[in-house]
Amino acid sequence: MHPSATPTGRPRPAAGHPDVLVIGGGVIGLVTAWRAAGRGLRVAVADPAPGGGAASVAAGMLAAVTELHYGEETLLGLNLASARRYPAFTRELEEASGQETGYRPCGTLAVALDADDRAHLRELHALQVRSGLDSQWLTGRECRRLEPMLAPGVRGGLRVDGDHQVDPRRLASALLTACERAGVVFHRAWAERLLVAGGRAAGAELAGGTRVAAGQVVLAGGSRSGRLAGVPEAVLPPVRPVKGQVLRLRLPDALPGGQAFLSRTVRAVVRGNPVYLVPRESGELVLGATSEELGWDTTVTAGGVYELLRDAHELIPGITELPLTECRAELRPGSPDNAPLLGPTELPGLHLATGHFRNGVLLTPVTGDVLAEVLATGAVPEAARPFSPARFSPADRGAARARTLEEQPV
Ligand code: GLY
Repeated sequence: MHPSATPTGRPRPAAGHPDVLVIGGGVIGLVTAWRAAGRGLRVAVADPAPGGGAASVAAGMLAAVTELHYGEETLLGLNLASARRYPAFTRELEEASGQETGYRPCGTLAVALDADDRAHLRELHALQVRSGLDSQWLTGRECRRLEPMLAPGVRGGLRVDGDHQVDPRRLASALLTACERAGVVFHRAWAERLLVAGGRAAGAELAGGTRVAAGQVVLAGGSRSGRLAGVPEAVLPPVRPVKGQVLRLRLPDALPGGQAFLSRTVRAVVRGNPVYLVPRESGELVLGATSEELGWDTTVTAGGVYELLRDAHELIPGITELPLTECRAELRPGSPDNAPLLGPTELPGLHLATGHFRNGVLLTPVTGDVLAEVLATGAVPEAARPFSPARFSPADRGAARARTLEEQPV
């Protein structure tokens, strides 16, 4: 092989520079870096605090079936493909990092509390059945038999045994260690400007002025991805921040009789507001989440906490007895069609892995595999073709740009 070629023959930058610079060290950036390093590429990541970002607050539901929405059938295919990869992906990651990821194949129960919620859930069930998904309608009594802490007023529900969970903080920590062990270099600073040379992406200038040259660049900056200076307007990703407030509580060791407080994820739409409770084997109970279009604001508000606790209390009255250990907010990277932007842009050498919105943790395995393939071979895998960054119009980009530039991120 020519010394200036990557293992797959793609151009390699001068000695000492990485083949790939990943901008953003959340779970999406880290999985991209880890998988690309696994393909023999030299990889660097720029992020002041790798392992942070939206996933550090997320509940980690792998809810391809229970979070299905009308009009998102194409996204469903990618979500299911990623969910299927989770068992092998977490096994491989745990081996590479020596750390646990908290993957728990526990299933999900989505319940309804009143007639409107029940009608909504019936429609979701019909959509799931039409989409060929495994979802079973239960009466309120059957729901309470599965989860005795549910309120007596529960009117019915959907049992989805294939929607599981992972602990996103453990996942991020394991990815960080796996990257370090695979030789990924970390620059603990924000990337402030994309460098373009000879009509292609050539690296980035970091806060403090350091320049990192690279053969290819992946923009995986979550909700900030639309703000990187130097990215030509025509390829800037149309992502916007969507705030989610999330609470953490501590589960009791066991209830009288040895019964778990909750044995699976429980979710509902209470008077139009989605609420979910994710019980971990570690004893953590995650309660989420608001969905607020408030720009870069990450304030935890009394109203947000009140509404989450109020809705969760209607669902599981015993929740108010539990210690409340954490209240935080983070920003999901929303895109115009709620689906991610994956793969090459029209600027040679610049790739996107962003816009994952509600599904960043779920889509982590498939994103890593897709981006590694693109970076190593230049070919976009079939599964990722509908998610090309080129699918958005200049108007989509302009609207998103106006919103992301409204104020500074905090
Ligand atoms: N997928 C859960 C959320 O975005 O709140």
